[in-house]
Amino acid sequence: MIISTVEGLTKIAQGVRADGKTIGLVPTMGALHEGHLSLIRRARAENDVVFVSIFVNPVQFNNKEDLVKYPRTLENDVKLIGEYADFIFAPTVEEVFPTPPTEEYDFGQVANVMEGAARPGHFNGVGVIVGRLFSWVNPHKSYFGEKDYQQIAVIRELVRIGNHSTEIVPCPIVREPNGLAMSSRNRRLTPEEFETAAQIHQILLKSTEIKGDVPEIKAFVESEIAKVPAFTLDYFEMADDTTLQTVHSFSEAKGVMGFITVYIGAVRLIDNIRYR
Ligand code: PAJ
Repeated sequence: MIISTVEGLTKIAQGVRADGKTIGLVPTMGALHEGHLSLIRRARAENDVVFVSIFVNPVQFNNKEDLVKYPRTLENDVKLIGEYADFIFAPTVEEVFPTPPTEEYDFGQVANVMEGAARPGHFNGVGVIVGRLFSWVNPHKSYFGEKDYQQIAVIRELVRIGNHSTEIVPCPIVREPNGLAMSSRNRRLTPEEFETAAQIHQILLKSTEIKGDVPEIKAFVESEIAKVPAFTLDYFEMADDTTLQTVHSFSEAKGVMGFITVYIGAVRLIDNIRYR
């Protein structure tokens, strides 16, 4: 069933809770692919009732062209979801933001680096919509993909700050057969760019075999990316997997991950990989 109003959403979610059933929530911006569907299937397996939201949230886009060009495929999304979700919340912008939002979050250090630094206002915008969804649906569990690894860290802060009671369930990255992390933005790549883009993951994979410390891995990734004319590197950072702060040596953190953002033409792609 498709719900388009906040009132309808909160009433239905309250009813489900009152019946003693568990709720799983999967927030999305639509243009669904196997990555999203893996979250939705997991929610299906772990909860009595599944809510999926489909909303291209304008307040998290710091780039107007990206917002305008973001694919919108609601009819097809509804078909793909099929029986995996009980309720699809697909509101208009006016429904979610009858007046401009004023929430100002301070997510601290996890939100100030990488995507937070590169996209001013982005994580606050994510917090605005996800915080509202948590309040409206009050889900037992909420599902997020590790493709947006830093986003999960921010959402954990949002749960803490907002005293939400939902459990955050991180889900592994789903990739194309060629290794490219699935993304709604991949639809904007030409077939040739799509093949080239697969090198992002291939380079990161190779970098896990480098016998060296952080500087050697950084140098390898940066030089390999530079060899691909179609790529413009935005950043490659190696960071603590919990604090998201940059590390200069593996000795500085228990878990270390690499985070990359690459432009191919006007399309901005992100990916990550674990080293330790
Ligand atoms: P969106 O990009 O639509 O992604 C929705 C969810 O699907 C996110 O948790 C994202 O990490 C996950 N996802 C996307 N591609 C994936 C892949 N290849 N493998 C695994 N999971 C993947 O992220 C957002 O929307 C928005 O910021 C949102 C949280 C909905 C707030 O507007």
